[in-house]
Amino acid sequence: MRFIKLAIIVFMSGLFFFSVLRGGDRTFAQENSAQEKNALDVAGFGLSLPERVGADDGALFAIQFLGDLHGSLDNCGCKGRPAGGFGKRVSYQKAFKEKLPAMPVLMVDSGEFLNDDRSTHGELKGDARIKNDWVLKAYDKFPVEAANVSAADVAYISQLIAEDSGKSNLPPILQRTISANIVKASDGRPAFKPFVIRTIGRGKPVKVAIVGLSELSTRPPAGLKIVDPLEAARLVVPEAARAAEVVVVLAHVKSDVAARIAAEVPGISALIVGNGELFTPSIRLKDTLIAFTPSEGRMMGELRFYAGSKISVKDRFISLDGQVPDDPEGYELVVGQREARKVAYDRFSKPPTGDGTKLTIPAGYAGSQNCSKCHVGQYVKWANSDHALSSNPLATRQTELESSCFVCHAGVVHSDAMSREKPLGNVGCEICHGPGAAHVAAPDKSYGRIGDAESSCARCHTAKTSPKFNFSSYLAQVKH
Ligand code: HEC
Ligand code: HEC
Ligand code: HEC
Ligand code: HEC
Repeated sequence: MRFIKLAIIVFMSGLFFFSVLRGGDRTFAQENSAQEKNALDVAGFGLSLPERVGADDGALFAIQFLGDLHGSLDNCGCKGRPAGGFGKRVSYQKAFKEKLPAMPVLMVDSGEFLNDDRSTHGELKGDARIKNDWVLKAYDKFPVEAANVSAADVAYISQLIAEDSGKSNLPPILQRTISANIVKASDGRPAFKPFVIRTIGRGKPVKVAIVGLSELSTRPPAGLKIVDPLEAARLVVPEAARAAEVVVVLAHVKSDVAARIAAEVPGISALIVGNGELFTPSIRLKDTLIAFTPSEGRMMGELRFYAGSKISVKDRFISLDGQVPDDPEGYELVVGQREARKVAYDRFSKPPTGDGTKLTIPAGYAGSQNCSKCHVGQYVKWANSDHALSSNPLATRQTELESSCFVCHAGVVHSDAMSREKPLGNVGCEICHGPGAAHVAAPDKSYGRIGDAESSCARCHTAKTSPKFNFSSYLAQVKH
């Protein structure tokens, strides 16, 4: 079974490579056929942890890599066969240090370690925030030496930096995030360290530069720009090569971009690529080993570097399948993240008022229906406007529903907030005119004046939620 799987992987990788060739430069083919075949080394199912670590083959040092975790410390959630997850990863790392204490090792992340799930209006979901905070915590507790910032990662990182506003309470891992092509829009200067240098290796340690590259993005956070990764590599790799003996590039880019970087930028020993593909065996192009990050952390990638007239590198992959035990310390973080998400989910899913089971009208309010008795004309107009149905769009967005949505979509009157079937509240008369119970009891002319109508709309119709908002044309639609 295992053999068949491997055969499929090898076959698929042939297909993959063929597609790269067709898309790109023909010289890749000539280049590669001259290279010796790179045998796939997967330490997997049926082996004990120390067996997966393998023997001390005299390597100078090792670099372990993961990526594309999308904010999850958890395993893949695969039924009956939970693979990956922070517990198993820590188990392997500890087994490695115990069995090969003489072989120094660095852990890196090829990018997309954070979650960037957004709601309709482009806000980061509350759940994403919680996931991310736990990943950052985990990356400090079991240090990741360099984390490549992808286009998705940069959004949350810059939000954290903006919220911190110079108070320096940021998680230390942010000092070890790298990118050579995410720059400030104002002056084009790097927004992160383009690379970090670590001195590592038994006997005679060498300097290793780890460079970060991200894919382009159509909507980088305000004030930032992502420039072409290939162009950035051309500039930064020679600089890194002057400062270090070994250059390793972490690149969150599509495979064809990775192939171009390896073919066109000399001086890279290993290019560790993350792009969410299930599993692609490594490729050698010219002097560069291109190693792909297995998806969802189900396998750990490991590069071993060997001394010689020129430092050489070999890749291997370690399956983090169900047979790998969860390290208790690592697993604590998995459980912590799970529980924090559950607590938050309960909080987000509660309507802001009431118990969520019946229509709740807060004290001082009468409810729109009550106004209809005396203001029929206004009521009929309102009842046929989108404001009367303002919670309808939420029904189609159950997965992103949070209590914060109700502030604008359901006003102050709520019914069973999380139910698809029952009607929710809406932007009722009193949202704009103010609590009306007293006015209903004793009507008088002084009630309900709206001083500045435009700013009363603006609390809900913001640039984010209502980009096409125009006061006079919008008012004309709801005038009553
Ligand atoms: C029992 C009848 C009655 C009910 C119920 C009632 N109103 Fe009135 N409302 C009046 C009367 C009467 C006036 C004063 C009209 C006048 O003197 O021109 C008024 C005035 C107003 C005004 C000010 C209009 C202006 O000319 O400036 C607003 C706004 C208003 N009502 C909104 C509401 C809202 C919202 C509700 C429901 C919460 C409501 N009313 C319920 C009878 C009622
Ligand atoms: C700050 C106020 C505000 C908040 C908070 C808010 N919305 Fe909205 N939403 C609006 C407004 C205003 C519109 C109408 C925009 C327009 O038509 O110009 C709208 C429109 C929508 C629409 C229909 C238009 C579309 O883009 O498909 C959906 C769906 C929606 N919102 C979902 C949500 C969800 C889900 C949440 C919570 C995660 C949420 N909204 C939170 C104000 C808000
Ligand atoms: C989105 C906000 C909004 C909602 C919801 C809303 N109104 Fe108004 N209403 C206004 C504005 C704005 C005006 C006109 C400007 C002003 O009066 O300052 C107005 C004017 C009125 C007037 C005075 C009309 C006149 O001839 O001067 C009445 C009465 C009124 N609304 C009743 C209602 C009732 C009843 C409902 C619910 C059925 C309702 N409104 C819902 C914003 C709203
Ligand atoms: C409490 C929040 C809130 C306030 C205040 C508010 N709106 Fe809205 N408005 C909404 C939401 C939510 C929607 C989207 C409803 C839907 O898509 O079903 C909406 C939709 C609309 C629409 C329909 C837009 C479309 O493209 O169909 C118009 C027009 C509108 N609002 C005008 C106004 C005006 C004018 C004001 C101020 C006088 C105002 N609104 C105040 C929440 C609000």
